[in-house]
Amino acid sequence: MTQAEATKRHAQLVEEIRGHDHAYHVEAKPKISDREYDRLYHELLDLERNFPELVAPDSPSQRVGGEPLKVFKPVRHLLPMLSLDNTYSQDEVRDFVKRVQKLLPDEVLDWSVEPKVDGVAMSLRYENERLAIGATRGDGTTGDDITANLRTIRSVPLRIHLSGKGGGMQKKQKEFFDSAGSTLEVRGEVYLTKTGFEKLNAERQAAGEEAFANPRNAAAGSLKQLDPRLVAKRPLDVVVYGLGKVEGAITHPHTHTEVLAWLKTLGFKTPQCVWHCHSADELIAAINELDRIRKNLPYETDGAVIKLNSSAQRDRVGFTAKAPRWAIAYKYAAERAETKLRDITIQVGRTGALTPVAELEPVFLAGSTISRATLHNEDEIRRKDIRIGDMVVIEKAGEVIPAVVGVVEAKRRRDAAPFDFAKHLHGQCPVCGGPISRDPKYVVWRCENLQCPAQATRRLEFFTARGALDIESVGGIVADKLVERSLVREPLDLFELRLEALATLNLGNEESPRIFGEKNATKAIHAIERARTFPLSRWLFGLAIPDVGKTTAQDLAKFHDTIKDVAKSPLLADILSYHEKQSALPGVRREKPERYERLKMEIAEIRGRLIESHFAARSKSKADKEPGIVTKVGPVVAKSVLDFFASEKGGKILRRMKELGIEPSSEKISAAKAATLPFAGKVFVLTGTLPTMTREEASAKIEAFGGKVSGSVSGNTDFVLAGAEAGSKLEKAQKLGVKIVDESEFLKMCR
Ligand code: IVH
Repeated sequence: MTQAEATKRHAQLVEEIRGHDHAYHVEAKPKISDREYDRLYHELLDLERNFPELVAPDSPSQRVGGEPLKVFKPVRHLLPMLSLDNTYSQDEVRDFVKRVQKLLPDEVLDWSVEPKVDGVAMSLRYENERLAIGATRGDGTTGDDITANLRTIRSVPLRIHLSGKGGGMQKKQKEFFDSAGSTLEVRGEVYLTKTGFEKLNAERQAAGEEAFANPRNAAAGSLKQLDPRLVAKRPLDVVVYGLGKVEGAITHPHTHTEVLAWLKTLGFKTPQCVWHCHSADELIAAINELDRIRKNLPYETDGAVIKLNSSAQRDRVGFTAKAPRWAIAYKYAAERAETKLRDITIQVGRTGALTPVAELEPVFLAGSTISRATLHNEDEIRRKDIRIGDMVVIEKAGEVIPAVVGVVEAKRRRDAAPFDFAKHLHGQCPVCGGPISRDPKYVVWRCENLQCPAQATRRLEFFTARGALDIESVGGIVADKLVERSLVREPLDLFELRLEALATLNLGNEESPRIFGEKNATKAIHAIERARTFPLSRWLFGLAIPDVGKTTAQDLAKFHDTIKDVAKSPLLADILSYHEKQSALPGVRREKPERYERLKMEIAEIRGRLIESHFAARSKSKADKEPGIVTKVGPVVAKSVLDFFASEKGGKILRRMKELGIEPSSEKISAAKAATLPFAGKVFVLTGTLPTMTREEASAKIEAFGGKVSGSVSGNTDFVLAGAEAGSKLEKAQKLGVKIVDESEFLKMCR
C-alpha cells in the first residue's frame, strides 16, 4: 500500500468508525454488528501500526492512550460552572415562576423541563473543533483535568464540525467561517446506566472488591481513577444539556431548545425527553409525568430541571452567587421501602461517638441495594420505638445516607423487646471493650478510651480525606491496618512512617496476605510529604477540632498566618471576651452602675479592634445605640478552638508539628493583597431587602473583597446597594449622586 492509499483509507476508516460510534453510543441504533465493527477497528489499528504518522489525537484508536497520570491538573473553566437551587414542592415551583415573572414583568415566558441526571457534572472544551480539555466541575471556577478519562467514553465526540456537516451552517456562510479560532465549552453529566452499575458491582463483588453504593458514586469513583485504561472498562456515558463559552461558532442559538438541537447535530447525546411549558401548571404536569416515566430511563434521576428557554431573558435575570435565577431543580420525594431489621450494630466515630446502625435484610431502593441504614442515636430509637426483628420503613433521597424513618407496628412480633442501648453493648465499647458513658446533656454515647483503635482509625481517615490532607491512598483498609499494626496511633504518626514498613504492610490476613507494595507505598509517602506544606485551612480542618468545619477553617486561615497564631489568637480571644462582656452588661448596669460605662468602653474597644482587623463587620447602622457585630466565627467556635490548643492533646499536636518540621502554607490575606482587592478603599451602604442575600452575607462579601460597610450615606459613600423597599438612604444617595447598584449588578462586580 502506498502512502497516498494509506492516507485515503485511514480517512475513510476514521469517518466510518466515528459514524458507527455515534450510531451505537449516541443514537442507540447500531448499523453494523459488533463483529463488523471490530473488523473496521482492527484494520485501523493495523494501518496506524504500519503508518504511525497517520495517528492523530482525534483518531478513534486514541480514546485510551498514554501512561497513567500522577495527579489531575487543575483547569479553569472559561465560564463558571454553576449549581442549581432546589425546590421540593409544587408551591415552590409556583413561587419560582412568580419570582422570574416579577423580574421580567409583561414578558411572555416559556420553559423547558428535563430530567436531572444523577451523575457527575463535567465540561468538555473543544478548541478548533477538537476535544482539548474535559474537566470536572470542582469548585465551579476550577476543576480537575480529566480529559484522558472522558476521552474513553464513546459518546464523547473527539471531533466536531462547527462548519457544515451537521454543523447547521448554510453553504454561503461557509466562507466566512474560520474554525481556527473556535472554542466551544459543552456542559453535561457523566453517568453510569442502571444496568451498567449492577453489572459493575456484580463484577466487583465477585473479585472481592467493595461494591459502590449507587451509580453516582460509581461514576465519580471511576472519573477519579488516574489510569484511563481502568476508566475505559467502566460503562460510563454522558448526556449534555448546556453551553459554557462559545467563540467562533457560526450558530448562536437563541433558546435552550435551539441549544439542544444544535448540540445534537454536532454529535452529542442530549436529554431523551424534554418538555416545553408555558405556565406553572404545565411545569407541574411535566414534572409529574417525568416522575411517572423516570424509572424507565436508563439512568438514575433525582429530580427535574426547569429552565427558562430564551437566552436573552436568561441574561436579563442573571445569577445569584452560586446558581442561575433562570433555572431550578425540583427534587422528587425520597423513595421508601419496607424491610426487616435484622440487628443493630454500633459504629465508633473519630470522637468516640457510638452511632447505632440498622443491619437490614437487603432491599432495592432508589437505584441501589440497601443493607444498612443509620439510626442516628439512642433517643431516636426510643422515640420511634425501633426493636430488633421489626419491619421498618427506610428512606433514601439522592446522596443522603439511607435512614430508618419508622416501624410497621402491626407486623411486630409479640416477643420483640424494646431496645436498650447500654445493655446491648454490655456497657462497653464494641471495638476496644473500654468504658462508655452518656453525658445526660447530649444524646450521644461515647467510648471513653482515647486509645480506642476504632477512634484512631476514624481520625486517620478524616485526616487523610480529600477535603483535608488529601492522602487518599492511606484511607479505608490501609488506615485500618496501620492502626491495627500499631504503626499509626495519631494522624501525625504518618510523618514518621518508613517506606519499608508501609511497603510490607499486609492488607489481608496471615492465610491470604495482600501486601501494599513498594509502588503504592512510594505514592503514599509522596502524598504525606506533600501534606506538610498544605494550606493552613486544610490542616485546621483535618485535625478535627470540634466545631471547625471546612468554611470555619478557611475563615480562620484567612486571618492567621500559622497554626500557632490560631492557637494563641488574639482575635478569637477578643470574640470570646466581647460576648462575655456583652452578656455581663445588663447585670453590671443593675448591680454595679459605676462599672457600667467602663465595661461599655471596653466592649467598644474590642469591637473596634475586630472591625479594624476585618474579622468582624458591623451588623447595625452607626445610628443605632448599641451597634453589634457579625464575626467570622462565633463565641462557641472561638472557645472550642482556643480550648483545643490549650488542652494537653492540642499542645502535643503543636509541639509535634514543630518537631516534625510541618509548616502549613499561609493563606492569610496580607495588607498589600487587601489593597489590590476589587473593593479596596470603597465604602458601601446597604438599604432595603435584597432578593436573595441577607445583609450579613452582602457585608461579608463586600469585606471579603476589601470594601467597608457604612451605616449612613455621605459624600464618602462609593456605592449604595439597594434592595426592595429601600427608604431614605436611597433618596439621599440619589440626591448626592452616589452610584446605586442592585444585587445582580453587585454580584457582577464581585466576579
Ligand atoms: S443545568 C447553570 N441540567 O445538577 C445550570 N444540570 O444540582 C447548570 N444536572 O451541577 C445545570 N441534570 O451537575 C442542568 N438536565 C440538567 C441536569 C443538571 C443533572 C446536575 C448538574 C448540576 C447539578 C445541580
